[in-house]
Amino acid sequence: MARIIGGIGTTHVPSIGKAIAEKKQNDPYWEPFFSGFNAVHKWLAQEKPDIAVVFSNDHGLNFFLDKLPTFAVGAANEYRNEDEGWGIPVSRAAKGDAALSWHLIEGLVNDGFDITMCQEMLVDHAVTIPLNLLWPKGDWPAIVPVTINTVQHPLPSLARCLELGRAVGCAVMGYPEDVKVLVVGTGGLSHQLDGRRAGFINKDFDTLCMDQLSADPEALTRYTIPTLVELAGAQGVEFLNWMAMRGALTGTVSELHRNYHIPISNTAAATLLLANRPRAQRKAA
Ligand code: DHB
Ligand code: FE
Repeated sequence: MARIIGGIGTTHVPSIGKAIAEKKQNDPYWEPFFSGFNAVHKWLAQEKPDIAVVFSNDHGLNFFLDKLPTFAVGAANEYRNEDEGWGIPVSRAAKGDAALSWHLIEGLVNDGFDITMCQEMLVDHAVTIPLNLLWPKGDWPAIVPVTINTVQHPLPSLARCLELGRAVGCAVMGYPEDVKVLVVGTGGLSHQLDGRRAGFINKDFDTLCMDQLSADPEALTRYTIPTLVELAGAQGVEFLNWMAMRGALTGTVSELHRNYHIPISNTAAATLLLANRPRAQRKAA
């Protein structure tokens, strides 16, 4: 049976792609950020996930404001990237796993999630940057991309995204193939790119969010979307992707590593590694 070995939260700021292309990982500006992935690389080398389910938000490459599903699941065997205008190299395509995608889609719809299913899907920097950060040698696993609308209000609630993740976690556990699955949530943490509060960052709130993700994610569901915008910034709502990632960890969760660095571009850049151990089976009476 498939199992979820853990979850990773990571930023997806496009300028990271430029730093990678220009090999600036050891420059003073970038080093405190990139070195935060060393522990993650070590863990990934030990655990060797076969597939990554990636929760992210599309920024206009695949969906635009005219048609924007709240939740969409890729069901392809390949996901291409295209030029988004950030001045970073177009990424090579990511491999998909359509069989797992369809299994997740069945599970989600059965659980009451009216998702959009995408047999063709472009992936933007919110997928390609995390893949490059997690597997810098290019040995990416196959992915199942799940996009969450964090762009056009009304957005789904924190509670709904946690539930979405749980439904994905349950569906993975019912997948008959013997594969190791990693879940990834991308974006955040606090940031605001435009308007009067451009440059807004909230370290206290980010720290609380990371603490609660392993300890008590349910507690975070008390924040409404307007409150989340206030506390995390207009684009800090990308934390919804992290909530879904956490929801998919249905076993016993423990934090293995975190890095938090300000600033990368105009954001607080966080990296979080959570292990997910299967709960002990209760003995039959
Ligand atoms: C930036 C942050 C984002 O989340 C994003 O999607 C694009 C750009 C930034 O800080 O530049
Ligand atoms: Fe973003």
